[in-house]
Amino acid sequence: MNILENDVEKILVSKERIAEIVDDMAKRISEDYKDKNLLLLCILKGSVVFFSDLMRKITLPMEIDFMKVASYGKGSTSTGNVRILLDLHREDFSNEDILIVEDIIDSGRTLSTLVEYLKMKGCRSVRTCTLLDKPGRREVPFTPDYAGEVIPDEFVIGYGLDYAEKYRELPYVGVLKPSVYMK
Ligand code: IMP
Ligand code: MG
Repeated sequence: MNILENDVEKILVSKERIAEIVDDMAKRISEDYKDKNLLLLCILKGSVVFFSDLMRKITLPMEIDFMKVASYGKGSTSTGNVRILLDLHREDFSNEDILIVEDIIDSGRTLSTLVEYLKMKGCRSVRTCTLLDKPGRREVPFTPDYAGEVIPDEFVIGYGLDYAEKYRELPYVGVLKPSVYMK
C-alpha cells in the first residue's frame, strides 16, 4: 500500500468506475469524431493520467498535444486567474477539431478561458471533456461536452489530481482527510 493512502478519507470514484467512464467516453468520442480531424489536448498536469487512458481507448487516428495552465495557488482554493504556461505552437489551426481533456471542472474559469482562446486561434471546432465535474462550484457558466462523474463540492485527489503536488499517482479519486489541510 502507498503510504499516501493513509491521508485518504474515502474513495469517491473507484478504479473500476473510472475504467467504465473512460470506456464509455472513448466510445462516444470515437463515434462523434469519425469524420473530423481529432486533436486531443491534454491540460497539464492534472489531466495526464485520464488523458493517457482515454487516448488508448479511442479507436480513431488522432494527434495529441499539451498545454499547461495555472489557475491555482498552492492550497485548495481557486485564485480565479488563468495563466498559460505552455502554449500550442502551430501555424494553422483551421483543420483542427480540438478536444480538450480536463481532470475536473470547478469554477469553470480554466475551460471557458481556454475554449475562447482556441477559438480565437481559428480552430475548426473546440469541445471539452472532463473526468469530474463540480457544477455546484461554478463562478462562470460552463457545460462540458463530455463529463464522467458529477461530484459534490469536496476537494479530491488521485488519478492525476493533486493537493500541493502530491497524491497524483493514486489509482482512484478520493477525498482527503481534513487533518491534511490543518497540518
Ligand atoms: P476551474 O478553473 O476552477 O474550473 O479549475 C479547474 C482546475 O482546478 C482543475 O484542472 C484542477 O487542476 C483544479 N481543481 C479544481 N478542483 C480540484 C480538486 O478538488 N482537486 C484537485 N484539483 C482541483
Ligand atoms: Mg488541472
